[in-house]
Amino acid sequence: MKDITVCIGSSCHLRGSREVVQALDRLVREAGLQEEVNLRGSFCMGACEQGVCVAFEGARYSLSPATAEAFFRDTVLPALGAQGGKA
Ligand code: FES
Repeated sequence: MKDITVCIGSSCHLRGSREVVQALDRLVREAGLQEEVNLRGSFCMGACEQGVCVAFEGARYSLSPATAEAFFRDTVLPALGAQGGKA
């Protein structure tokens, strides 16, 4: 089980963290990876100007609702060994 942690602090919220969470949740379910990926929320990660901030595998990413799918495909799926791979 790997965590994807999405910042839901106020700045990231304004930049669409809710949509990012919804998109990632949908992608995880579509890929059948509910047992592999754990979506979590986090308070401010201290990099508001780079939001929406997402932490995964010890790295921090800067997402928007428009880039959530590419992040999932290009970063999350490979890290999981691309099970479910629609990539
Ligand atoms: S609100 Fe997300 S990093 Fe500050």
